[in-house]
Amino acid sequence: MVVRETIDIDLDRIDRLIEEEEAKLEPKHRASIAYRAVAEHTIAGGVASSWQAAPPHAIYVDHGLGNRLWDIDGNEYLDFHLGYGAMVAGHAHPKIVEAVQRQAALGTHFAQPTKDLDAVGDNLAERFELPLWRFCNSGTEATLEAARLMRANTGRETIIKIEGTYHGHHDSLMFSVAPAPAKVGPREHPNTVPQALGIPKAMAEIVRVVPFNDLDEVRRALAENEGKVAGMIVEPAMMNCGVILPEPGYLQGLKDLLHQHGAFLAFDEVKTGATIAYGGATEAFGVTPDIICLAKAIGGGLPCGAIGATRELYRPVLDDEYDMAGTFNGNPLTMAASRATLTEVLTRDAYDGFDAVHEVLADGCTSVIERYRLPAYVTGLGAKGSVIYSSTPVREYRDAMVIDERITYVAWLFQQNRGVFKSPWSKQETWTTSVFHTEDDARRYVENFEELAAALTA
Ligand SMILES: Cc1ncc(COP(=O)(O)O)c(C=O)c1O
Repeated sequence: MVVRETIDIDLDRIDRLIEEEEAKLEPKHRASIAYRAVAEHTIAGGVASSWQAAPPHAIYVDHGLGNRLWDIDGNEYLDFHLGYGAMVAGHAHPKIVEAVQRQAALGTHFAQPTKDLDAVGDNLAERFELPLWRFCNSGTEATLEAARLMRANTGRETIIKIEGTYHGHHDSLMFSVAPAPAKVGPREHPNTVPQALGIPKAMAEIVRVVPFNDLDEVRRALAENEGKVAGMIVEPAMMNCGVILPEPGYLQGLKDLLHQHGAFLAFDEVKTGATIAYGGATEAFGVTPDIICLAKAIGGGLPCGAIGATRELYRPVLDDEYDMAGTFNGNPLTMAASRATLTEVLTRDAYDGFDAVHEVLADGCTSVIERYRLPAYVTGLGAKGSVIYSSTPVREYRDAMVIDERITYVAWLFQQNRGVFKSPWSKQETWTTSVFHTEDDARRYVENFEELAAALTA
């Protein structure tokens, strides 16, 4: 990384900009604000999932098409949120619409297997280089099964996870997702901090938290828990506090270390899978783990999840010692959407398109950062990327944790007020692009970013 002189960001100025931008945004969302009051009568908080109520207010969507969406006030946006990255196939892609309509007319659920299984399984096995797959309905279910598979195959209970990663909302892994600085504890023995009320304390005792990008800390965790560790789950590139890429040798080092200790390695590719490359992180970084968890992008917009693993790890399932089950697992509607998404939309060519748009976003934002001397840099791969508001490289959660959230909030407000829909802003801004996003869309994003840079430094 090139060392450059940067300005200090004036937080008082940011407070003023936040006030101005919030005042501009609110009148655009009168219908959303009014509808929330209606929904609140019977829906807790007026939203279906807690994170849909991100400040300043929930925005209710009417419809989407390709690279765009429209909210219920009639505002049109270029969509870089894309449903937390699930919609890299774009909204209402004709091939997926056709597949879903065809299947809907033939019945949507039987709780019996149907004949799209092999096409989806073959495609995932080719992309991710793991031989056996099962399906579920979300990333949460996929990582739940990954933790259980590692425990089932070792007879051990402890799972190692990375500080600052989210693997879904189940009790096995909902620890140290975004812990407050006052709670994290020493770096060499981070506290295992529950992310929600109601998570049993007993679960914390079988979760060991370590920092990302540090093999020595994993070595320490394994040595201190000799014979107890079933495995480790890792997002191969962290995607929930900006994009943090793995350093060379880190992922292979993890696999080697875990295997030396009789434990397994699971990749949570819920965000990286089929977005950063055709074969996700497995292809991008050249390491195949023992288990891969997928969701989001592979369903083309339907609720989906998949667990890939080696034949060895699937043995208890094949031998009927472990029921990996669910009423809607592999339901025909999701399978039809997934088949169309994987075989007809997210083809190898699509990734050339993601790379081209990424280059415009990354070069454009980097040029703005350099010209305005912002303490920031750009990171990402394929359909995913982010501006990280730090003048030094962010290698792990603790580096990101100290970045003032007002900066990412004001960046979100600037894009939102200028027609670009972004994921909720907490921690670091991340973008996702779809097969419909163009280089002009990327330039629009960069123009908005330049307006922010000008306002920050005026
Ligand atoms: C890395 C990662 N894993 C798992 C999940 C959970 O997926 P889902 O929301 O489909 O349960 C998420 C959700 O954002 C995620 O980002």
